[in-house]
Amino acid sequence: MKNGYMVLDPIETISGDLHNHFADDVRRGLSAESKSLPSKYIYDDAGSNLFCSIMDLPEYYLTDCETEILRNKAGYISNAIGNGGLNLVELGAGDGKKTKIILDGLLKKYDDVTYVPIDISEGAIHLLLAKLESEYPLLKVKGLVTDYFAGLCWLSDLDLSRNVVLFLGSNIGNFTPEEQTMFLKSLHASMNTGDYLLTGFDMVKDIDILERAYNDTEGITARFNMNILERINRELDGNFDTGLFSYKSYWHHGEGAIKSYLVSRISQEVHIGALPMTCTFEAGEAVHTESSYKFTEKQILSLAESTGFTVENVLYDSRWYFADCLWTA
Ligand code: AVJ
Repeated sequence: MKNGYMVLDPIETISGDLHNHFADDVRRGLSAESKSLPSKYIYDDAGSNLFCSIMDLPEYYLTDCETEILRNKAGYISNAIGNGGLNLVELGAGDGKKTKIILDGLLKKYDDVTYVPIDISEGAIHLLLAKLESEYPLLKVKGLVTDYFAGLCWLSDLDLSRNVVLFLGSNIGNFTPEEQTMFLKSLHASMNTGDYLLTGFDMVKDIDILERAYNDTEGITARFNMNILERINRELDGNFDTGLFSYKSYWHHGEGAIKSYLVSRISQEVHIGALPMTCTFEAGEAVHTESSYKFTEKQILSLAESTGFTVENVLYDSRWYFADCLWTA
């Protein structure tokens, strides 16, 4: 225990685990017929910092929309979910700017709140804990450095106190539809009856608005995706030259998702020492790095229904670009 918060012990073990999966997943993804790399590996400390810069981009409307919703509805949300002591569990906490809006609302009403941020970037968790500690001296905080699934195990071991799970930012959109259903089912299984879930969903909208959000003029989103190659260089002794790849992202109508790729500019060979593996790329060959699924209200409602949740409310911003959904388990 350090100054009122603690970083739970399993952290070291769990991050060791994550590293092994990284090597295996890179080998599998780059050996496949259509190459891909799982987007969750973009988020080491460098990637998490780049994502913070993305949230400040004028093109990346998602953050502004969700902030608007939370500002307007913080009172409603804390009235709806509160009665006495509660754990506010946040999956993929990031920098916590939006969380503070909810925390402020809750702390106005209740004094027994424990905030449990879960994130795969240890740097992001430490930064967040330091910030919250100085701003909310009375708040109890437990940070967890792990992926969502280990986080769910931890959640299911909790006592019977009420849990409110936050899954903001349309993070759910990085899962394929099958994964979304699987994930929400396991989340439901690890929650207590009556617990709340607040999930952010980015809505299907004008294609230009969607594509601009993932092709910013400053090129930060490109650097964010390139970070996965740089991470392979750093952690797996790879020799990727990111200058020999270009970033490409577009709306895929059939899937209802923005799909992002790193495209090899030339025919080349890349060596990854820790695997070890030599990977050949043809000129123009693409590595899929991320899908960001977008939603219709109909899809959201059927997702809740098929995973066992009850819909309490769907909260929109003034442009109807984004929705935060309050569900109960
Ligand atoms: C954090 C998954 C919600 O898909 O919009 C932002 C990540 N990628 N710009 C998204 C991201 C490129 C983001 N999520």
